[in-house]
Amino acid sequence: MDKFVIEGPTPLQGTIPISGSKNAALPLMAAAILGDSPTTITNIPKLRDIYTFNNVIRVTGCRVEFNEDEGILTIDPKNLNHYEAPYELVRKMRASFYMLGALLGKYGEAKVSLPGGCAWGPRPVDLHLDGMRAMGANIELEEGYVIANAPKELEGGTFTLEPSSVGATVNLVLAAVLRAKEFTIKNAAKEPDVVLLCEKLAEMGADIEGIGTRTLTIRKVDSLQGISARNASDRIETGTFMIAAAMHPQSNITLTNVDVDDLGHFPETFRKIGAEMNINGDSIHIKAPDHITPTSIKTKVYPGFPTDLQAQWATMMTQANGESKVTDTIYDDRFSYVPELVRLGADIDVKKNTAHISGKTKLKGASVMSTDLRASVSLVLAGMVAEGETDVLRIYHLDRGYEDLEEKLTNVGANITRAEQKE
Ligand code: EPU
Repeated sequence: MDKFVIEGPTPLQGTIPISGSKNAALPLMAAAILGDSPTTITNIPKLRDIYTFNNVIRVTGCRVEFNEDEGILTIDPKNLNHYEAPYELVRKMRASFYMLGALLGKYGEAKVSLPGGCAWGPRPVDLHLDGMRAMGANIELEEGYVIANAPKELEGGTFTLEPSSVGATVNLVLAAVLRAKEFTIKNAAKEPDVVLLCEKLAEMGADIEGIGTRTLTIRKVDSLQGISARNASDRIETGTFMIAAAMHPQSNITLTNVDVDDLGHFPETFRKIGAEMNINGDSIHIKAPDHITPTSIKTKVYPGFPTDLQAQWATMMTQANGESKVTDTIYDDRFSYVPELVRLGADIDVKKNTAHISGKTKLKGASVMSTDLRASVSLVLAGMVAEGETDVLRIYHLDRGYEDLEEKLTNVGANITRAEQKE
């Protein structure tokens, strides 16, 4: 197992290219198996979750080729003949559960392992299953697996997502496009990842009304064709590096290959901390403020503040002059990073779903670790402004979701090395 050894504090200066988005790529990859011909997707990041999903798709008999140097993925569904996503792979990555919608949609049968819990709570899939039942599919649970069946045509109907869910919207769209006579999803997610999926499915030949709104109506088509598609750039990686750039008063960073339109209200909120921010086409230039203005946030569905950036924001707020609050309304208990930041010297108190942060605190290096992706990257952000050496343990979480993280940060002045972690 590897760890990062970070020497701080260091200002960041230079250019960071933003990678393709993991969370946008995974639905597109699942959609590719619905086609009758190969789909090629560009701007695919080299991340552990992408390799895992490649293997999930290969289990079904599809051919998957990943040109890592070019970031181009080709999925040929011609030989798909096995309708299963096994526990050994699904437990590594929850999004493998998208295979349920894709296989049910294309072949009318699927056997997909239930994903189980995750580092910060149960993360249910009831809406995915109830939505498919509402569509008319037969869904049974057997020994940790979901067994799904559907005739050639499902009647469809209407299903309301409460709460709105990215994953359930993706799975229901995948299931419906080739199978449901008419199916309406109310309170559908409209995160950019969902919108891109729907747009690309429409390009493949799907009939989806209401793309980009909270009501999607899908009418079955007989077949879909493979396409060439560009994957979105990673909006969470973008936000993470914007925050990194604001945390040291001498930092000055340009982010390139950004999909600015996917950032929702985040840039407006970011401006409130006092940073200089210039957006020019697909580049964002950030100059850190001398003093960070304390700014409270509450996570919301898109275009509101993303839950995937709240840990990074709270970390930045430890360096703001005053009190702030970070409230997560999507996941109540996504605060596993707090005790670790406190070990570095932060003053944070969690009450219910809100972290109360008192800044500015001087952080001092220590060994820290975390059990999820966004929490781990927050510890890297903290390590870059902490005095002395910070060891971030168990960085395999980072390898799931941040492409070339240490290389990108080292290139702009951070002092980060990857070392073997002895247990
Ligand atoms: N929910 C239910 N029942 C369900 C599904 C969801 O109650 O059947 C609830 C969840 O418990 C949560 C809310 O609905 O309170 C929203 O969850 P959602 O389903 O939207 O999350 P997800 O699809 O499982 C994706 C991202 C997450 C991100 C969330 C929220 C992917 C692969 N994952 O998860 O990303 O936090 O949306 O935006 O796209 C990450 O990248 O680190 C990550 C965890």
